[in-house]
Amino acid sequence: MYRLVCSFLIIGASLVCAKNTAPSISFDIKDRNLARGEKLFSENCASCHVGRMDVNSTSFAVNPRNLELSLLSPEQMYHIINNGTAFYGSKTDYMIGYENIYTSDEIKDIVAYIHTNLNVNYKEAKKLYQESEKLSKDKSKEDVLEEGRKVYLKRCIHCHGPSGKADGVAVKASNGNLFPYDLTKTLLTDEQMFLFTKYGSKHWGASRDDMPAWGSVYSDEAIHSVVEYIKVMVEKSSNTSK
Ligand code: HEC
Ligand code: HEC
Repeated sequence: MYRLVCSFLIIGASLVCAKNTAPSISFDIKDRNLARGEKLFSENCASCHVGRMDVNSTSFAVNPRNLELSLLSPEQMYHIINNGTAFYGSKTDYMIGYENIYTSDEIKDIVAYIHTNLNVNYKEAKKLYQESEKLSKDKSKEDVLEEGRKVYLKRCIHCHGPSGKADGVAVKASNGNLFPYDLTKTLLTDEQMFLFTKYGSKHWGASRDDMPAWGSVYSDEAIHSVVEYIKVMVEKSSNTSK
């Protein structure tokens, strides 16, 4: 499905699908049927994402997200629910895709239900990202990438691996206990990658905090640089693997 859409994009708009660019869809959560979204959620999602909030009381050992803290946009949630988390870089496939189970309208209603119950201060976070971009404005692109490369090699490669595919040495040594995301498949925008890296996975609803909050180690400028570096790295690895 992704490849298909990518080829359309390449033909249509000569875009290169370096990241796992999802097909663009757009909908307004205000127009959706929240009652139906809530009903479907409680029937089919709450068994793992218990009541959205209480992730620890799930009966499965699958570490689902606390969806109240998600940083994903409605469109990104739609894609994840449609295709499952593994499609976008999770190394586990605990969360399947619901494409063949729900209609597109039903998925949109579920997303609207989740999104109207979010509990994140995204505005503040957005401002931080915009400021981090300004910090590097006097630097050359090469300097930014070099700084980002150093951070990546020092702090990220052990888990996310030499080309971002989540096959670092720490993953191999953990005997199946550590599941970093494959960054070559990520759905996240630059801004979201920045915020995820700065605050760590727990902040955004992960039930384990395997992905540390790097904001306590690195400046916003350094985190901005590592995101720039990841973008280039991902582009290279997708060029060589296709
Ligand atoms: C079998 C357990 C299970 C079920 C059932 C399930 N999920 Fe998930 N879900 C997960 C896990 C586990 C993750 C996190 C995957 C990871 O990080 O590797 C997740 C992640 C997500 C995310 C991504 C959140 C983020 O911020 O990255 C969304 C959105 C989501 N689930 C929505 C749903 C919806 C809607 C349903 C019902 C249609 C559902 N899930 C059913 C286990 C489940
Ligand atoms: C100890 C292992 C570990 C290290 C070191 C690590 N990560 Fe992660 N990273 C993870 C795990 C685990 C996840 C998935 C978290 C979850 O969803 O529960 C993740 C997820 C991410 C994501 C989100 C991807 C997505 O699509 O949701 C980004 C971005 C990221 N890491 C960037 C970085 C950067 C940048 C560094 C270095 C500064 C780094 N990570 C270092 C383990 C690690």
